[in-house]
Amino acid sequence: MAMRLVRSVADLRALLKPLWNEGKRIGFVPTMGYLHEGHAALVRQSASRCDVTVVSIFVNPTQFAPNEDFAKYPRDLDRDQALCLEAGADVLFLPEVAEVYPTGFQTHVEPGRLAEPLCGAFRPGHFRGVVTVVAKLFAMVQPDLAFFGQKDFQQTVVVRRMVRDLNLPVDVVVIPTIREEDGLAMSSRNSYLSADERERALGLSQGLLAAQEAFRHGERHPDHLLATAREGMAATDRVQYLELVDAQTLEPIQGPVDRTAALCVAAYVGATRLIDNVVLAPSPEEAGLNVSLSPHHGD
Ligand code: PAJ
Repeated sequence: MAMRLVRSVADLRALLKPLWNEGKRIGFVPTMGYLHEGHAALVRQSASRCDVTVVSIFVNPTQFAPNEDFAKYPRDLDRDQALCLEAGADVLFLPEVAEVYPTGFQTHVEPGRLAEPLCGAFRPGHFRGVVTVVAKLFAMVQPDLAFFGQKDFQQTVVVRRMVRDLNLPVDVVVIPTIREEDGLAMSSRNSYLSADERERALGLSQGLLAAQEAFRHGERHPDHLLATAREGMAATDRVQYLELVDAQTLEPIQGPVDRTAALCVAAYVGATRLIDNVVLAPSPEEAGLNVSLSPHHGD
């Protein structure tokens, strides 16, 4: 089937209705466009696991603060379309702001404590905008599975919580961060970087990956892991936050890392704000889990 472009919710519903009725498994990849290989990985994953893959491109105004880059967020529909087609999307959904937020709109989804630390502390209202639009897009697409990138780690945690709290019948699947060859996490915002800034941005992933390496070699002390990461980031002018948090609660890890943790960073490189993270998972023994799950364990 050729990929279909759809701009209104009514057209989307008309297209999907027979598929819903036939019990087809629908995969959904919400995006803000200017797509790259990270987005493509989500689309490929959906295409491999679902009968139909819907990709949305919607630069969501409510998740940007007034001083942020909503107006200049990069756009290139032709390129996005080619990438979606190549990655196996069936439907490209391009809703208009006026339909997503009609005059008189006043009902939001309010995230809780998980939206407060990390990016939430520096982008007030950001996650409220994210979960509101994700809930609305879920209502429009009614997917069985929805695919998100680990790149936006806090977003995955806040969205998962929202899905549970609102009993939404959607499985959230999280895909590992796709990086450039030198390690920089792919991001639509990388297009803002000058050559010099691109060099300095590399410190973020270098610091995180160095800490991940130290963790692999047995380092468990939060201060040491943070110091290793910070060292790698020396060339980055303004680190907004660098935190080691419990991957479930997003609370800072105090003692030795004994459960899955996320090392998260946000920094300005020139005028561009970038985020990245690595997940640090201790062995099941360290995490205090009973590992004898199957009779074949240890074979
Ligand atoms: P956007 O930044 O376009 O990202 C869309 C999806 O692609 C997100 O789930 C994001 O985590 C994922 N992604 C981005 N870069 C990635 C990379 N390098 N590797 C793997 N996945 C990556 O996130 C948003 O849009 C919006 O907040 C949205 C969820 C669409 C709501 O408006």
